[in-house]
Amino acid sequence: ETLDATGLHLLPGAIDVHVHFREPGYTHKEDWRTGTEAASMGGVTTVFEMPNTNPPTRSVAELRRKQDCAQKACVDFGLYGLMAEDNVAELEALAAAGANAFKCFMGNTFGNLPSPSTGAMLEGFEIAAALGLRVSLHAETASIMAWRQARLEAAGLDHPLAHIGARPEIVAIEAVGRAAALAEWTGARIHVLHISSAGELVPLADAKRRGVDVTGETCPCYLMLDSRDYARLGPVIRVNPPVREAKDSAALWDALRSGVVDMIATDHAPHTPEEKRRGRIWDADCGFPGVETQMPLMLTAVNEGRITLEDYVGMSAVKPARAFGLWPMKGRIAPGAHADIAVVDLARRETVAADRLHSRGRITPFEGVETVGAPVHTLVRGRLVQRDRRLVEGVAGWGRQVTDIQRMPAPRPRNADQSLRALLAGGRP
Ligand code: NCD
Ligand code: ZN
Ligand code: ZN
Repeated sequence: ETLDATGLHLLPGAIDVHVHFREPGYTHKEDWRTGTEAASMGGVTTVFEMPNTNPPTRSVAELRRKQDCAQKACVDFGLYGLMAEDNVAELEALAAAGANAFKCFMGNTFGNLPSPSTGAMLEGFEIAAALGLRVSLHAETASIMAWRQARLEAAGLDHPLAHIGARPEIVAIEAVGRAAALAEWTGARIHVLHISSAGELVPLADAKRRGVDVTGETCPCYLMLDSRDYARLGPVIRVNPPVREAKDSAALWDALRSGVVDMIATDHAPHTPEEKRRGRIWDADCGFPGVETQMPLMLTAVNEGRITLEDYVGMSAVKPARAFGLWPMKGRIAPGAHADIAVVDLARRETVAADRLHSRGRITPFEGVETVGAPVHTLVRGRLVQRDRRLVEGVAGWGRQVTDIQRMPAPRPRNADQSLRALLAGGRP
């Protein structure tokens, strides 16, 4: 059986460092089979999956449970361990059991995981720095949001843009700046998830200038939607952080081209249509699926000349691989070198339709959008998992956890004499 690639392009499969596959706990929204099938349809060959499942992935037992759930994956995956107030003592064991990175929810979002105090974050960052695992941040400040949302809801506000008002840019600016200060102090490597605003780019760029190892991602919704879409889409558009103004998406495109924002991730956050359409914007579950539509949407931007194909490969595969320790390293020459490949037809025209998504969350703010360019085949470690825009049979379980992550421990704690770990270990104060 041969694969004819005449006129097609071979791209390294996308590495999506931000997906929610919902299992265990919320399998009516997604599970590891449907989530990874959606990824394979989207040309995504490796995903990093978030810990806000039920139970959350915050201990070794819970990580093992998620590894069991992920047995049916058809693409490769990394797993996040939660970094929270009450599990700082577990982080080393989580890493030893195979957590590939940590996730810290600085602000409230789906799953209602309380944000750790800044003190707990400082200690968690110190541990992550010593372990050499990256910490990905939901960078919104819980206390600011809680205050504003309570005030707006009490006033009975039903304006479609209230969701932005409850989570103004300052919420993210403050969180990115604070996380960067903690990373600089401890030597931790951090990653800012779902960058939505022009404002956040200032502390992000500044931290990079200071030499902090910080990377950032944005998602198609922040590039391709803005406040003018709220009236048309209603609660479907609800996502944390919110889709903002046209000036923000313009700034995010610029930041992607200049490299201030390193990569594209999807924040694939499926919910059922009923959970999305239940009244006012506050009442809708936040987020929507994305792992399947990212590549067609971004290849459309390539076709429109907004970014080059080389830029796209950098932001979808090369930079995520570098940031999360998948490359360069022994045995891995480059992203795609293990035949993790998206075979792409740059001229293929499709229309996004929720009822054709492979995710269980069959609702998308991109409904009806016409795309040009799509992954027509997907290979994971040389094996076809998607062929001719269809799932390949019998590939459940082919996906493996990425165990060969290159850890990058900080050379030594930057402020060793004030390190809490050193003090607790009886070191010199
Ligand atoms: C995510 C989810 O549903 O898990 N939702 C979202 O709006 N982005 C959580 C998150 O990434 O904050
Ligand atoms: Zn988030
Ligand atoms: Zn998310």
